[in-house]
Amino acid sequence: MTAVDLGAAPGGWTYQFVKKGIHVIAIDNGPMQKELMSTGLVQHEKADGFKFEPPYTVDWLVCDMVERPMKVAELMAKWLANGWTRRAIFNLKLPMKKRYQEVSLCLQTIEAMLKKAGVGYHYQVKHLYHDREEVTVCIMVR
Ligand SMILES: C[S@@+](CC[C@H](N)C(=O)[O-])C[C@H]1O[C@@H](n2cnc3c(N)ncnc32)[C@H](O)[C@@H]1O
Repeated sequence: MTAVDLGAAPGGWTYQFVKKGIHVIAIDNGPMQKELMSTGLVQHEKADGFKFEPPYTVDWLVCDMVERPMKVAELMAKWLANGWTRRAIFNLKLPMKKRYQEVSLCLQTIEAMLKKAGVGYHYQVKHLYHDREEVTVCIMVR
């Protein structure tokens, strides 16, 4: 299997894929952990995660870039709508006060973009134990 990790450094999420023998394209201007690179499973690209386009369809997309939640939501919907991946796991960083409202707006935007693209999907949003001012979203295309 193959994965793209947007905002990958130093490599915590990439490590989860590598442990399962999954090849990862890791996108980040920052350095990846040396041990991870020596596995031969990681291709590190110093690129902007908002501009990067995958060379082939990947099995997984993960994204942990520190950015406005709406910008991340639109990027995730673009990947899924274009068929660049069928599964996406990403964090929505929520430093603002009206967090529930922000998450709802992001989900509505994703819904509208995927509906327009004719893509059916199901999703889960969780506030995980280690999440602080963020929630983790998992979307799978049906
Ligand atoms: C919270 S850290 C990611 C931690 C990573 N998920 C891990 O488990 O080790 C956020 C990362 O996003 C990267 N980042 C922020 N904006 C980016 C962008 N536009 N393109 C690529 N990487 C970006 C930062 O350089 C930083 O390394």
